[in-house]
Formats: sequence, structure tokens, C-alpha cells
Amino acid sequence: MATSRLPGFYNLTLEQRLAQTAAAAELTPPELAAWASGGINPEAADHMIENAVGLHSLPLGIGLNFQVNGRDVLVPMAIEEPSVVAGASFMAKLARAGGGFHTTSSDPLMIGQMQVIRVQNLHEAKFKIYEKKAELLAEADSIDPVLKKFGGGARDIEVRLIEESVIGPFLVIHLIYDVRDAMGANAVNTACERLAPRVEQITGGKVHLRILSNLADRRIARARCTIPVSALAFDNFSGEAVRDGIIAAYAFAAADPYRAATHNKGIMNGVDAVVIASGNDWRAIEAGAHAYAARCGRYTSLSTWNQDSDGNLVGTLEMPMAVGIIGGATKVHPAAKAAIQLMGVKTASELAEIIVAVGLAQNMAALRALATEGIQRGHMSLHARQVAIAAGASGEQVEKLAAQLVAEKTVRIDRAEEILKSW
Ligand code: MEV
Repeated sequence: MATSRLPGFYNLTLEQRLAQTAAAAELTPPELAAWASGGINPEAADHMIENAVGLHSLPLGIGLNFQVNGRDVLVPMAIEEPSVVAGASFMAKLARAGGGFHTTSSDPLMIGQMQVIRVQNLHEAKFKIYEKKAELLAEADSIDPVLKKFGGGARDIEVRLIEESVIGPFLVIHLIYDVRDAMGANAVNTACERLAPRVEQITGGKVHLRILSNLADRRIARARCTIPVSALAFDNFSGEAVRDGIIAAYAFAAADPYRAATHNKGIMNGVDAVVIASGNDWRAIEAGAHAYAARCGRYTSLSTWNQDSDGNLVGTLEMPMAVGIIGGATKVHPAAKAAIQLMGVKTASELAEIIVAVGLAQNMAALRALATEGIQRGHMSLHARQVAIAAGASGEQVEKLAAQLVAEKTVRIDRAEEILKSW
């Protein structure tokens, strides 16, 4: 990838944008051609889910300006909401001025859970499981030779005793499994199901549920960025005012779950867009994100915003990121394959790190707008296009009608229909 800075990209036609995207990523337009049609046809859908009747499409845009650990990357984002791609791209540009995004991730460790009920002596059973840990790990390890070949496999076993009043106390065994470049649900679920009979022998109990946990808190991705305070100034807002406004907005989310939910939703606007574009399971990512945000017993912000000793704005984001680049839709969906190709990621961890960088950029875009001119101004001009389409505008009418709605400061469908009728 030569550069993710593509000035004037917005003004190009769809075909020109695709050509420029391919050229910048050292790919050919045919390699990204799946995006023109959405990637799959109804016949393919019929092989993916039950009772298929057709397709449901989302727009795919390119997040520009991203630099992650010194590498430029163009980010495919599948999302229906206006402002998200533009917001992320703009914030990535500001972050570039401070060296881009610095990211890290843990090993790709997933947790599989086995619920063991009807155990006579819970404490004794817990100790017996630990005594047989090596044997259980060896068995779990032998299940997926492909994962093993690539350096994955069973890593650890932990036993928890859960006090509960409906069915009484029970044991939960966590199998920690390194799933390398897979999302890992299949490997972990298979391993848990396979271990269950031996666990029943050891504990004398009954293994009830055997399923992975979406609170993937062993599989964490982290992103950090520094925005020079001077880069934050715009219109009548000084850099210091924007910085302090963003920090105060973060403080609100850190302290109040009602605000934190919306703040984190803004992060997920960016995160989900890349998760979906790459063919990953965004429900799993959502579940993990919100459970992680409540890990201390109170729901709070996933990100932090502060200033460094030079007065520059510093943002961080840390969250579970169970995404894969092999298996599932990531391999069979041509649009997802193109997305992985565009980002040039070779491991699931690299993908996870790009995703958290986008989440952090998206969070900053929302906070900057909220802390200064308010969210509606930027939102409205983009929203106006959707209103124009909903009112029946097509082709060149869309931009013209949207512009008039914004100029009149009345972005409403009734007014849009009225204007259309008068044309
Ligand atoms: C809207 O999709 C997302 C925001 O509400 C996020 C936020 O409030 O931080 C703007």
C-alpha cells in the first residue's frame, strides 16, 4: 500500500473510486469487483442460511487516511449510516499528524465454557479437574490438527464455582484455546463437546452447556493515538477548546452508563462497519464489547481521552476483538475476501488492530462534533440525501434536493415531497 491519503476521493465517480482504491492498494479493479454487486447472489445465499429468499445489501465505503503502526491502510466499511465513513476518515487524517494509530493485541485466545451441574462435592470436583488438566488439554489439543499446525491449540483450563439460587451452585470450566487466525467458535465448541464425557467422569456431574463465551477478554485489541492540539482547531474553535471539550465528553461517558451506551455505540459504528465488511460476526463483537464495558460491575466507556504533558489529545481504546480471516463468511463471501485483500492483513490480529483503530477514530469524530457544533449539522447534510431518496428523488435530483433541504434547514420528508412535486 503506497498511501491511504487520497485527496478528492469524495468527488470521484463510483468507478473512479474503485479504480483509485485498487491502484493505491496495488490491486486490480477486478480483484475488488465483488463490491459492485455486493459479492453474493441469491443462490449463494441459499447455501448460507435457511429459508433464503434473496439478499439485503449495505453500502460499502472506504475509510481513508488510516495509518496503523506506521503502515497505511485503506479500510473497507459496510454501513448504512451517513457521516460514519467521512468522520472516521477525517479523524484518521488528524491522527496521522500525530503519528497515526499505535496498536497491539493479545494472543488470539478464546474461552470455551462447560457448565457442570449435579456435582456432589463441588470443591473436590474442582481440584480433580485441575489434577487432570494436562490430560484434558492434550485431548482438546488433538481435536484440530490444522489449528495445531499453525501454532494454535488448547492453552489452559480454569475452574470456577458459581453460587446460584435457581438450580443451586455449579461448576464452570473454562477451556482457553488459541485459535490463531480463525474467529474460533467452531474449534472451541467442538473442543468443549469433545471434553464433556471425560469431565463428567472426573467430576461425577453432568456437563450441561458447552459453548464459547463472547466475553472474549483474553483476546484483546488496543489502539492509541495522539492528536496535536494545533490540529484540532477549526472555525471559531481553538485546539485547546476542542481538546477540553472531548475530554469533558469522555468524562461524561466514563461516569454515566446512559451516556456510555451512546458513546460506545459511536465506537461500534466504526468497529461494526469493518467487522461486517470483512465477513465477521458483528453480534459476537457487539456482545463482547458491551460485556467488557461492564467488566468492573458498572457499564462504562470503552475508550479514554486525556491530554499529554505537551497538551496534545491522547485517545485509547481497548476491547475484545474475536475476528478471523479464515473460515466462515470471511472465506466464502467474495466481498469479504476483497476487504481482507484491500487491508493486506495476513493475520487475524492485524485485522483486529485495524478495527480498534477505526473504532477510536469514530469515537473521536462523534465527540468532536458533540463537543463543538453539535452532531446535527454534519449529520443533516448527509441525512438529507436519504430523505431526498425516500421522497422519490433519483439521479441528479438527489443532490439537488438534499442541498435545498439543507439550505432551508428543513430536512423533512414532507418538505422534500413538496419540493419534488414543484419541479
Ligand atoms: C450516532 O450513530 C453515534 C453517536 O450518538 C455517538 C456519540 O454520541 O458519541 C453520535
